Formats: sequence, structure tokens, C-alpha cells
Amino acid sequence: MKKLSYYLGGTLVLLFSCKSVQHISTSQNPQEDKAIDAIIAQMTVEEKVGQTCQITLDVITKTDSKGAALIPATIDTVKLNEALFKYHVGSVLNVGAHTLSLDEWKGIIQSIQQPFVDGKTKTPIIYGIDAIHGINYTIGGTLFPQEIGLAATWNTELAKTFGEITAYETRASGIPWNFSPVLDLGRQPLWSRTFETLGEDPYLVSEMGAAIIDGYQGGNKIDDKHVAACMKHFVGYSGANSGRDRTPAWIPEKYMKELYLPSFKKAVEHGALTVMINSGAVNGIPGHINHHLITETLKNEWGFEGFAVSDWEDFIMLHTVHRTGTSLSDAYIQAFNAGVDMSMVPLSPQYKEYCEIMVQAVKSGKITMDRLDDAVRRIIRVKRRLGLFEQAIPKFDAYPKFGSKEFKQASLNAAIESITLLKNEGNVLPLSAKQKVLIAGPASDNLIYLNGAWTHTWQGVDTSYNTKGSMTIRQAFEQKIGKENCLFSKGAEIYSEADFEKTRFVDLADYKQKLGQADVVVLCLGELPSTEKPGDILSLNLPPEQRELAKLAYEQNKKVILVLLEARPRIIHDIVAPAAAIIQGYLPGDYGAEALVKLMYGENNFSGKLPYTYPKFDGVIEFYDHPRSIDRSKSGDFSAYNPEWDFGYGLSYAQFEYENLSLQTDVLHGNDSLQITVRVKNTSGINGKEVLQLYISDDFASMIPSGKSLKRFAKLNIAANGVESKTFYISKKDLMFVGSNGEFIVEDGTFTVSVGTLKKTFTYSSK
Ligand code: BGC
Repeated sequence: MKKLSYYLGGTLVLLFSCKSVQHISTSQNPQEDKAIDAIIAQMTVEEKVGQTCQITLDVITKTDSKGAALIPATIDTVKLNEALFKYHVGSVLNVGAHTLSLDEWKGIIQSIQQPFVDGKTKTPIIYGIDAIHGINYTIGGTLFPQEIGLAATWNTELAKTFGEITAYETRASGIPWNFSPVLDLGRQPLWSRTFETLGEDPYLVSEMGAAIIDGYQGGNKIDDKHVAACMKHFVGYSGANSGRDRTPAWIPEKYMKELYLPSFKKAVEHGALTVMINSGAVNGIPGHINHHLITETLKNEWGFEGFAVSDWEDFIMLHTVHRTGTSLSDAYIQAFNAGVDMSMVPLSPQYKEYCEIMVQAVKSGKITMDRLDDAVRRIIRVKRRLGLFEQAIPKFDAYPKFGSKEFKQASLNAAIESITLLKNEGNVLPLSAKQKVLIAGPASDNLIYLNGAWTHTWQGVDTSYNTKGSMTIRQAFEQKIGKENCLFSKGAEIYSEADFEKTRFVDLADYKQKLGQADVVVLCLGELPSTEKPGDILSLNLPPEQRELAKLAYEQNKKVILVLLEARPRIIHDIVAPAAAIIQGYLPGDYGAEALVKLMYGENNFSGKLPYTYPKFDGVIEFYDHPRSIDRSKSGDFSAYNPEWDFGYGLSYAQFEYENLSLQTDVLHGNDSLQITVRVKNTSGINGKEVLQLYISDDFASMIPSGKSLKRFAKLNIAANGVESKTFYISKKDLMFVGSNGEFIVEDGTFTVSVGTLKKTFTYSSK
């Protein structure tokens, strides 16, 4: 079971009249539209409404007398028939309580699609799932680093490969639609879903997000090895003022346009076929009734041809939580007329009532037939582009690479390029195999700390489905240097109480005693997996018991390497200075421990860079692209911005020097482009990868300019003692900001380009 229903039954009164709704009902492909219209012409109102209704798998699976899902998961034909033939349901989502085997998926998908194949329904079902770091709900699938870790690779090729493999394995499970990627901006570190984001910068999020979408969809007509992407969660969900999940954000239009919208716009340009709506509210308007954003911006202005699905129970929550709808009916009409095409209702009997209410709303004219047809046309368009009309039941034997070594290697590569070295004093790393290592900390010996939530179960805490053959950090060390060289003592464990995570000590005497015997301490700190509401926390500080483990080791003058396995940057300031080394692992996935050990023993080099600004203090949350006033200190100089680590930061065993930053011209005119070249030298005897980050600062502007903004990046392989050059191009578009008129503008003046340690200034002239 996923969540509790917030549904309230009761008498339904239609209070709202229909608002005039603008929409695009045609696509760029008139032939396709004709074929779709031919299907729609045959449909009754009830069948059309059914297309817009999405139910969760539990609604149609067999249960025992106590209501628990049977194992293996099997479709209950009576429930399925009711959903398909009485209510004409068009979409199913999710998994029951936990991950399923390929065989279970095969049985489920076959049963669900057979009625269409037999000509008993007019359209196939579109099945959607959260395969957010690999096909995390199919046993044996390949689990990658969570999105925040992928972002830390700054490698768009890896992001695309992640997308391709995840798509392949999702299709192998019979599922053509993935509720991913999350394109929300990670600017509220308290938020429980920070790990699902691609970090704090709109450009990094846009580039990495688009690469994932390219990998998922593989082109316009999606073949049976690719899936439809779903851009989540449109838009502003991540900016909640309180930091708690599904709570309101205030985002002025300027920052909406500059920061939150670009990743979605780019995704639409890359053909993303579906979008899921923000469960929270922005500027007092719940995401699900924001006609301006959904219909005017996304559909009309950007030309999005796919469909918008609600988030979990969000039509209902407009009435029960947000209180913009005075009744369920009122709420449904608001959301549908705002432009949400499909409702993730998704429970029973609520879905039945949804269908009945919607049919009434259409019959009474509160939802026009045009609007209903528009939604259905969009949904059928996606079903067609996924090839479901031709092949509703996949060829399950066409996926020999599912869970293969090749896929595992790709996940390992991603983890290697993601894990970020934040401190390495006195070159304590790489370790030598001769050193005796104490592996300690709550996150040291369980795969759940490497994978996080959305792993085999929604919250990812149930260890019974951990991937066989994947190693914990302790096991990876033991394999590398032998059990005889490894000591182990957890020292503390994390548990959940009254919905919040806490840490308690475990056999501290054993921990202290083993500290005495170790040359090096690898202390693995972190968070219990969690997401959405269950992941709300009260403070960003890492629990004191975990920090105490580090302090006990410092007291014994041990060389301590902190390994962080966290869903968001937790404050660790009081244990940073005495640490010999600090490694940010994020949530690196099933092969994260292997990757970590390879990096720590120097078999591979670190190349991950932080995709967010790591805060130093709980009360001071800032971002790298802040305006100059944030830099201003009490004494009046410009040194106040002082995070623990800056956005884009990460060390390597190699040393890089930047040279010859050159601009093709000092004056950029009108719509010309500016060529920028830089050379990077690897001055060490070790091969390495360096992320070149090109920032631009607007020196003076009519609205406070951000100190600098990321405009381009590239990850280069630079051999030991080697040199590489890179050329970037920027243009007027990269200099624009949202002016006081609410539109993107560019102003003549001087700009500063910086790459690595180098800077150059140029002038922009509109003439
Ligand atoms: C989450 C979505 C997810 C959906 C379906 C919701 O609660 O917010 O991100 O895709 O559930 O599982």
C-alpha cells in the first residue's frame, strides 16, 4: 500500500461553472491526429472519462480474506473487468507493497492488456511506474545512483546511458511509462526529495534532465526498448518555504522563469511525452489548478503535445487539503479545466466516484466536450507513440540484457564518477592495502543506505529485497583487503520514531576499543531512507550521536575518513576540521560500495563535483549564484558567503591548471555567438577527469545581477601530464534575465566569464 487516502465521502454538489479553457488539440502531425480522432469519434462520454482515470495496481489484484495482496501478485479478473468494462479505466500505476519478479510483471501486464488485444476495449492501458534510479520495482533490475548522484557526475553521456538502461529494463517488465525524471530545482535542502533532484542549478538540471529524457525516449516514435518520460513535478514543488513536503512555496514570476521553469522547457524541447503536476502550491495557487502554468505556459506557449497527469490523489486533495474546491466535484472540475488531463485517483472506490462525477460534469457542461476530447486526444497520442496499439503485450523474451553485467558496469561507472571527494588532508587517500581499517557508522553495513527510498519499496527501508550479490561498504572493504585487515563496529544506528529519524548508540565500548586497534577509521554517516512526507525532518543538523562517533575517534587521534550517505546535505560543521578526509557518496546505488572502495584505494580517480552548495550552518542557506549583497560581511568587505563547500566543488588525485582563457572578440554584437577557449593541464602523474565549469557574471544590470551563473560545462578526460583544450560558445540568450517587465531581456554592458581560476571580461552590444 502506498499512502492513506485523504478522500472524504459525502454528497456532491456542483458549484463551479466552467471556465473558458484554451488548449491545443492538434499536434505537429495531422495524420496522427486524424487517426486519433477516428478512435475518439467511436467513444462514449463514459469511455472518454475512463481514459482520464488512473488506478493503482492494488485496486485490481487478488487479496486474501484480510485484504493483503497475494504472493505472487495476480490480477483479480472480477475487479479488472469492472475497471475496464464498467468504468473504462485507461491507465494503471505502481506496484503493491513491494518489488515484483519479472514473471509477476509478465502475468500482470498480460492480464491487463489482453482485453484490448481481444478487441474488447478501444484502447490499450498505459501502465506507469516510478523507475527513478533504475527499475527499482523489479527484482534483479539495475539500480543506479539516485538523481542527485547522477548530477554530481556532470556527465551527460552517463545520464543518457542511465536513461537507456532504465528504459530497457522498464520495458522488459512490460511497462512503457516512467514517472521520471524529477526536474525540480534542489534549492531547499530540508526537503525530503532533495536526492531525487539534479541539484540547485537550472542549467545543470536542464542539461542532465534532457540527457536522461533522450535516454528514456530514444526519439520521437518510441520503440520497444524505450519508454515515455514524465517531467516531475510541474512546477515549484521543491521550493516549499517550510521545507516540508507538499507545502506552499512563494516563487515570484522572475525566479519562476529564471530558475524553476527552464528544466521543464528544455525537456519539452527534447520531446518529453508526459508531465506530472506539483502537489504543493505556489503563490497561493495549488499546482493542480494553475491554468496559467499548465495550459497557457506548458501547452500553449511551449507546444507540449503530451498529457499532464496529477500526482497521487491530488484532485481529491484540492477539496480535503488545499481547500480550493468546496466539494470533490468542484475540485475535479477545477483541476481538469486547469489542464490536468489524467487523474491519479488512484484507489477504489474513489476511482468509481471520480468517473461518475466527471461524466456528470461533462453532461452538465461544467467541463466542455472540447476539453475532454483534448485530454483524451493527448492520452491516446502518447499511447500511440509508445506503440501500444500495435504491441500492447510486449515480447517478454526480447530483453536478454536485463540485469546484465554490461548494465551493472554502467551503474558502477556512474557511481565512480559521482562520489565526490571534499577533503583529503595530508593525502590520507588513497589508502594502502596494508593499513588496518575500522569500518564504522550506521550506514556502513546495509545496502539500504546506498540506495535510499524508491528501492524495492516506496520508502526503501525494508531490507528483505536487497539485491543479492551487491555489497555493503563493510563487505566491499573485506573483499578488497581481506577480513583480517578490517575491523567492524557500527557504533550507532538510525531508527524512525514518531515519523522522524533519530540515531542511538550501539555498543559504544566495542567501538572505542576497536578505534584503538585501527590505523584508519572509515566512518559511514547518513540518513535512514525516506521520501515525501515520511522524509520530513526537524533540523538539517546530522543527529548529534553520529557526530559524536567522529569526535570519539578524533579524541584517540585517529585518521578519520567521513563517508556521507545522505539524501540532502546535512550539517556536519563541528566534525569537518579534524577529519582527515571527507567523501560525499550521496545515494550511489547497488554498486556504490564497490565504487567507493575503488576510489579510496586509488584504482579509480575521483571526478564528482557537488551539484549543490553544501551549507555550513543550519540558519544560513545560500546558493552559489547569489547576488553581491549576500557576500557583504558585517565589516563591510565581501567575504560573508561562506558555505561548507561551494557548488561545483570536488577534489581529484590529479592536479589541474587552467591556462589561456581566450575570447574570440571583446565585443559580442546582437545575435552573434562568442567563442571561448580554455586549456587545462594535468600537472600530476595520474590520469583524471576534470569538469570545466563556465560561469558568466553580469557586472551591472537594472535588476540585481546574480554573482555568477553556470552557462556551460564539459567533463574532460585528461591524461597524466596531458593538456586538453575546450571551446565553448555562448550568445545573447545566455546573458538574459527577467527584467522588471516580467520578460527575458538583455542589457548592453560588460560581463565577466570565468572558467576554473581564470577570468576575462567582454562587452555586449545589441547593435
Ligand atoms: C509522488 C510522485 C510519484 C507518484 C506515484 C507521488 O506520491 O509525489 O513523484 O510519481 O506518487 O507513485
